[in-house]
Amino acid sequence: MDLTPTRDDKFSFGLWTVGWPARDPFGDPTRPPLDPVETVHRLAELGAYGVTFHDDDLVPFGSDDSTREKTIARFRQALSETGLVVPMATTNTFTHPVFKDGAFTSNDRSVRRYAIRKIIRNIDLAAELGAATYVFWGGREGSETDAGKDIRAALERYREGLDLVAQYVVDHGYRLRFAIEPKPNEPRGDILLPTVGHALAFISTLEHADMVGVNPETGHEQMSNLNYTHGIAQALWQNKLFHIDLNGQNGPKFDQDLVFGHGNLLNAFSTVDLLEHGAPGGGPAYDGPRHFDYKPLRTENIDGVWESAAANMRTYLILRQRVAQFRADPQVREALEAARVAELWQPTLAPGETYQDLLADRSAFEDYDVDAAGGQGYGFVRLNQLAVEHLLGAR
Ligand code: GCO
Ligand code: MN
Ligand code: MN
Repeated sequence: MDLTPTRDDKFSFGLWTVGWPARDPFGDPTRPPLDPVETVHRLAELGAYGVTFHDDDLVPFGSDDSTREKTIARFRQALSETGLVVPMATTNTFTHPVFKDGAFTSNDRSVRRYAIRKIIRNIDLAAELGAATYVFWGGREGSETDAGKDIRAALERYREGLDLVAQYVVDHGYRLRFAIEPKPNEPRGDILLPTVGHALAFISTLEHADMVGVNPETGHEQMSNLNYTHGIAQALWQNKLFHIDLNGQNGPKFDQDLVFGHGNLLNAFSTVDLLEHGAPGGGPAYDGPRHFDYKPLRTENIDGVWESAAANMRTYLILRQRVAQFRADPQVREALEAARVAELWQPTLAPGETYQDLLADRSAFEDYDVDAAGGQGYGFVRLNQLAVEHLLGAR
């Protein structure tokens, strides 16, 4: 079994992932900073196809224009030497103290205006580098106190900001789509648009709703004790899965950003199953980048950093193989059939049938044997055990 990543697998990493120097709220960095140019070369050697970045990951905050130009030129050079692409970019609107009360939704109007300028500057760069997706993770959009933030006003300003930036993209003819990344908390006590569901509801209010989708992160949904696979399935159903952040998390606690599969492994199995086999006909349901947004553990040295980057891709490829075997197993097919999984795609009314017909159908109600229907077994445990056995390599 070949577990060597290739460009066709579309694996991508943020500069901030492998480049995290491992500073945490309790301790100093345990690793030196990484040069983005070195990161590009190492990721390419490991088999990734893409690299993503926040503006400040590439060009340190506060750099003057000539430093900015030189830094971008070096980065471009590394991209052309390696063939790595930039599928996505995003803005850091959370590190500098100016953003301590948010960016689009700071109570201070001047901070909101500054944030929009910072975002637009990096959108120009993202478009120049050929990115298809621009991510909005509003880590500081939120509050710790209920009295200090008027949530309806904040959502109004969030909407105003996104509408304005979307208009800028449209007017400039950029082929960029936006992807909102939900997260329930951390760094703010409560973050706005905390889950995939909140983000999807918010998107429906936007002026350019058609160009805005979501970028769900595995761990962020799981921090809310939600099922990540369900979240991305709903986004797919609404044609809103524009990008994904894969990683690992062990239940509701601080954002762990573990290697993909190093948290809830069974859910990682169903995630890969959905991405690779979830289309109604059985093919891949998502063809965008498989983007890893993880943090190499603080305990690791630089060798461990590259080891962990490779681990994300290897785990994905192993799971991809296991789900393919799961889908091909005749016993699984039989168990799926017995569990009537495909029957759910069958409309509840027959073609042309009306509710009047349903009301007239005595077999649907008056003569319906509720005890027989209530007594049947669905066989979900057998099916799930087959999934577990495939995941464990026991079949
Ligand atoms: C987090 C977030 C970030 C975002 C990134 C993109 O740290 O919780 O996942 O990593 O994905 O900032 O804007
Ligand atoms: Mn995270
Ligand atoms: Mn993320």
